Amino acid sequence: DGFPAVKLFNQGYSYTYDDVIFLPHYIDFATDAVSLSTKLTRNVELSTPCVASPMDTVTESSMAAAMAALGGIGIIHSNIPASDQATLVRQAKYHKIPFTHEIIFKSPLDSILSADEFSSSPCIFVTESGRENSNLVGRVHKSDWEKLTNKETRISQYMKTSRLSYPASCSFEEIAGYLAKERLDFVPLVRYNGESGDDVANLVTSDDVERIKGFPKLGLPSLDSNGDLLVGASIGTRESDKERLEHLVKAGVNVVVLDSSQGNSIYQIEMIKYVKNKYPNLDLIGGNVVTQYQAQNLIHAGVDGLRVGMGSGSICTTQEVCAVGRGQATAVYKVASIAAQSGVPVIADGGISNSGHIVKALTLGASTVMMGSFLAGSNEAPGTYEYQNGQRVKKYRGMGSLEAMTKGSDARYLGDKEKLKISQGVSGAVKDKGSILKLIPYTMQAVKQGLQDLGASSVQSAHDLLKSGVLRLEVRTGAAQAEGGVHGLFNYEKKSFE
Ligand code: XMP
Repeated sequence: DGFPAVKLFNQGYSYTYDDVIFLPHYIDFATDAVSLSTKLTRNVELSTPCVASPMDTVTESSMAAAMAALGGIGIIHSNIPASDQATLVRQAKYHKIPFTHEIIFKSPLDSILSADEFSSSPCIFVTESGRENSNLVGRVHKSDWEKLTNKETRISQYMKTSRLSYPASCSFEEIAGYLAKERLDFVPLVRYNGESGDDVANLVTSDDVERIKGFPKLGLPSLDSNGDLLVGASIGTRESDKERLEHLVKAGVNVVVLDSSQGNSIYQIEMIKYVKNKYPNLDLIGGNVVTQYQAQNLIHAGVDGLRVGMGSGSICTTQEVCAVGRGQATAVYKVASIAAQSGVPVIADGGISNSGHIVKALTLGASTVMMGSFLAGSNEAPGTYEYQNGQRVKKYRGMGSLEAMTKGSDARYLGDKEKLKISQGVSGAVKDKGSILKLIPYTMQAVKQGLQDLGASSVQSAHDLLKSGVLRLEVRTGAAQAEGGVHGLFNYEKKSFE
């Protein structure tokens, strides 16, 4: 019944996730018995198979910290100066629990002129220098500031000198217990920073605790050998990226992604050799690739992981502009089959818009999925919300869009700074998705159910069942795809029938 993957994907068609459907198999275990533990690269293990894409509207420190706390990982984008990227890596690693308040720091000599300063947090922290990495000397609560008659008064005159804080390295349960015991509304989480004293790394409120308690439990957070969160970062293949890498390594980056839309190039191969030679213990992800030939070249050069996808992303126009790429289901299956022979894990990058796509990617051989639009628009994504036609939205743009390339990402598309820039992506906005601390656990629960329907109790077992031909697939006709989606129902939001 149905086709084994090897037959389906060798007929000369390029299939996307929506084109194919798995036939159900046999269930002999509970949903909660499904393990999503997986490998990002040869040496980096994750308990959740999710990676946040290195895009400037997706992954900065809040996203990276939240993804790692959920057992996945975030790759900090490189569309900023190297030292700023390294700071984002450090900030993400500082967190232990992904509370995502943007913390405002002031010096005792400053004044607070507008209530807007309190918009992201219930209090402003006062440090000796007014910067985050200097000694904490006090705090200003919004309620105290509101009572001030002269808003130009210096902070030192009315701040509370309380240094009440809690170590950032403690677990969620410990912090929750402390807040409850002391009956506090919030507490700053600090990290001892040698001579310069304690740095405020985060802020947790009792509302955060209640919110997070309500989310389904996921696997263990992704931690390195020091107990800090795992954080990745992307670099390009230019000479200046060697210096960028040095900054990132100093900041403690755990894995590096060579960011290119067509990875099979002499530039990338030389960079792989350079990185593996200089930092043999740093795991390196190459890509992007969509064919077995491309994959073999990068594996041969020494990559520890492969990123698969060309033109399948929601904001991509590469297939239209350059006429190259591959349907993502075919690309993942083809690359994963060859990479598995060398023990190199595959990241299915782009085109994920629902949990079913994740089940398909993982079953077709990917060990993790990388997501842009799925995570954009969340609280943890960079940028602020705005309203469009009554909808709360956040900006999301392709790194090959003219807007992003103007900031420097043209290296990903081998663009030349001096010459014409050809856009391979678009920019727009996506709907508010709330926090990924809720989105990801619910999505992973659905992924577990999908794997259970296939009789796969782990990602590895899905790979094995596919390879042995036990799992069968079929191509869906246009009508079958329409049948598989919502149809004949009035959508109140769109005010039309679907
Ligand atoms: P999703 O579908 O998750 O895709 O939004 C994210 C992935 O898309 C790639 N990417 C681009 N591809 N033009 C492209 O052709 C672009 O401007 C662009 N920006 C990002 C990238 O692989 C990302 O992870």
